[in-house]
Amino acid sequence: MAVRQLVLSSRQIRDRVAELAQQISADYADRNLVMIGVLNGAFIFLADLARAVTIPHQIDFIRVASYGQSATSSGTIRLAKDAEIDLDGRDVLLVEDIVDTGTTLAWLTEKFKEKKAASVRICSLIDKQERREREVRIDYVGFTLQQGFLVGYGLDYAEQHRSLPDIYSLQF
Ligand code: IMP
Ligand code: MG
Repeated sequence: MAVRQLVLSSRQIRDRVAELAQQISADYADRNLVMIGVLNGAFIFLADLARAVTIPHQIDFIRVASYGQSATSSGTIRLAKDAEIDLDGRDVLLVEDIVDTGTTLAWLTEKFKEKKAASVRICSLIDKQERREREVRIDYVGFTLQQGFLVGYGLDYAEQHRSLPDIYSLQF
């Protein structure tokens, strides 16, 4: 059995999400915002963030799949579900749960350059730095952590623990 240690409480998360939403609302006040959640992990973060953003916006989702099953991404990535809103001329904010090696985000950034969006920025709840392999620019970061395998608030281990209100680190 893995041991769970509390890393971020639901209260800490709520307060930080409110700050991020305020910043995003200010930055995109005169823009044409569409927030795109990266499934599955970002579904809870996006739900809370979107409800705290005070300017008009649209919501869509993409799903990224990496081949192979492991706690770290395999490096070979494909878009399993694309956005359905037309992004031509839109200000896109990609909403991620966590950036680890940076492989997914580096790939997504390239992919979204092909679209005709007016701008593409990244918002990630967690920037986990220790295993970073690709240099990536994250425009809005909820929390910066060095290490740990985290679950809760959308984050899973083998599809479990996503609905925990707090974020825990798993010790195997
Ligand atoms: P990256 O491509 O290595 O940056 O990994 C990004 C993806 O790996 C995230 O979107 C998560 O789905 C998964 N991941 C990385 N670290 C964790 C973690 O600590 N807990 C749960 N999922 C993680
Ligand atoms: Mg993810």
